[in-house]
Amino acid sequence: MELTMCCPTLFGLEGIVADELRFGGKLTDVRAENGRVLFTGDADTLAWANLHLRCAERVLIRLGAFPAKTFDQLFEGVRALPWEQFVPRDGAFPVKGYSLGSALHSVPDCQRIIKKAAVSRLSDAYGVSWFEETGAKYQIQFSLMNDVAELFLDSSGSGLHKRGYRANANAAPLRETLAAAMVKLARWRGREPLLDPFCGSGTITIEAAMIAQRRAPGLMRSFDAEKWSCIDGGVWRQAREAALDLVDRNAKFDITGSDVDRSCVELSIENARKAGVAGTVFFSQADAAKLDYNRQGVLFANPPYGERLLDIQSAQALYTNWGRAIGKSPMKQYVLSSDAEFERCYGRKADKRRKLYNGMIKCDLYMYFKHSAPSIAKKP
Ligand SMILES: C[S@@+](CC[C@H](N)C(=O)[O-])C[C@H]1O[C@@H](n2cnc3c(N)ncnc32)[C@H](O)[C@@H]1O
Repeated sequence: MELTMCCPTLFGLEGIVADELRFGGKLTDVRAENGRVLFTGDADTLAWANLHLRCAERVLIRLGAFPAKTFDQLFEGVRALPWEQFVPRDGAFPVKGYSLGSALHSVPDCQRIIKKAAVSRLSDAYGVSWFEETGAKYQIQFSLMNDVAELFLDSSGSGLHKRGYRANANAAPLRETLAAAMVKLARWRGREPLLDPFCGSGTITIEAAMIAQRRAPGLMRSFDAEKWSCIDGGVWRQAREAALDLVDRNAKFDITGSDVDRSCVELSIENARKAGVAGTVFFSQADAAKLDYNRQGVLFANPPYGERLLDIQSAQALYTNWGRAIGKSPMKQYVLSSDAEFERCYGRKADKRRKLYNGMIKCDLYMYFKHSAPSIAKKP
């Protein structure tokens, strides 16, 4: 069965997800758009994408798109889609979605119409008028954008950032998909030592260890489509076996994380254990402004922004003290912050900046990879 699939992404990560699909998934028909990436493939591709994509939010099957300015158009458009190819008689098919810039702006009303249309189609296919919905979940997702409706089935279930290792997090954890993207943007693959001096719950270091071990991020969790009767169980079994065979448990790398807060260090150790990378990533308690940075390697950091942790003055004072400690360190540095004053406080202008979103918070990834980066004047 040829499927059109769509991976929603955090804004700024579309290109990285497209690369993951082209290189790892060896797909040719990959299109990156604003906030999503589209591609085609079969059930094997769907299973592969769910298990292996590090930076996508979920894998949706795109069933169709059509103009919908009225509820009648919405009903008829949804009713024309081949729901019975996916949803069995006992399947549960809840509906969720959003509407932007469209005449049909009431999401609950759209949900109701879409449900009614899917029930109508399935009633004809199965010859029943009532569905118990006691079986596997086939989450219907819709978007209405500028009066065009697009309909999807969600094959992932919970978002792909939920790897299964971070049941507990500190107060301001970085989304796993974004942490993996930082490591990928730096093209770190395990050869140079890696340090995260603000490790929190350990997300960046754990994602990096999984990348270095070629450990698929989805190995520790399940996906809704694993229970779908329209996909042969062998597809998932083989995809999981292939992903397990890929893991390089003997990979050698040097990853350390530290945090000023003892409870974060304990949390990181526990999360690394759950992720299956214990013994490959080392954590300790330390003040980032007092570490010795006179060493080679790559530094990743997601320091407090002054939004969720610390107030803005304390966060900026921390950037300044930390920047002084880093001084002329030969380390490459990749720092994610939402503070527009970051470079001034840190004391250096980044070689490159990239806009990324940590959930709803607009951030910049400040990248320092050229040696002797020019320092910038501090405001009096
Ligand atoms: C935004 S959180 C990092 C979140 C982390 N990336 C994660 O995914 O969980 C910032 C972290 O910096 C730590 N922190 C604050 N001041 C620090 C300092 N002076 N030295 C080291 N860590 C510090 C906090 O304890 C917090 O865990």
